[in-house]
Amino acid sequence: MKKKGRQLKILITAGPTREYLDPVRFISNASSGTIGYLLAEQAAKRRHKIVLLSGPTCLRRPAKVKCVTFESARQLKAEVDRYFNWADCVIAAAAVGDFRPNNISRQKLKKNRNNLTLKLVKNPDILKALGEKNRGKNKALVGFALETNSLYRNARLKLKSKYLDFIVATKLSSKQLPFGDRPINGAIISRSCIDKFRRMSKTRLARIILDRVENLCYIL
Ligand code: CTP
Repeated sequence: MKKKGRQLKILITAGPTREYLDPVRFISNASSGTIGYLLAEQAAKRRHKIVLLSGPTCLRRPAKVKCVTFESARQLKAEVDRYFNWADCVIAAAAVGDFRPNNISRQKLKKNRNNLTLKLVKNPDILKALGEKNRGKNKALVGFALETNSLYRNARLKLKSKYLDFIVATKLSSKQLPFGDRPINGAIISRSCIDKFRRMSKTRLARIILDRVENLCYIL
């Protein structure tokens, strides 16, 4: 806990992971990294110290933010582990691929076959491991959940199983695509309350998340 107004050290993860099958092909997801970058930008404007771990994105690095890039989930985990002790708070906005190919072919896979079967193995759950490590230490932990169904139920399960202070849940459907800078619908869920939001800009959401982080980290 710090006195109100003190600079916080905030570790933010953003963007997608890439899991390569061969030197040119990979499995990834549609995350743009927008919310993570906005969080970093807004937090730096509040004069907090920020390390932004970024997957591949087209976004411009925010000013006064240390940015470290990653591609795979395991690279992200190594960076998170490197900065965890330094941080007062971790905000995990990265869209981490849960599986990776068992083998990465050193050569480009050729099409001289009729089908190709990929064996995928599980990636580590980075945030869950942090949550377990954080029990007894009082760092604030914030997660995100993107869900197509049972939004609140699934998000609450993640909140508990990853030992988070709160989770930002957003709904994904064919009508509601939350990628890029579109306004989004969802809820901020903690153990004691749920605050729903509708058509909220990601900049506004980033500010609200940071207000909550500050409330968690400062002694009143
Ligand atoms: N996360 C993580 N490591 C993973 C998967 C997710 O650290 N291997 C983090 C994300 O950064 C996010 C939160 O956990 O803050 C929830 O991610 P999400 O992909 O919604 O959930 P999963 O735990 O992967 O569960 P599922 O894919 O079954 O919904």
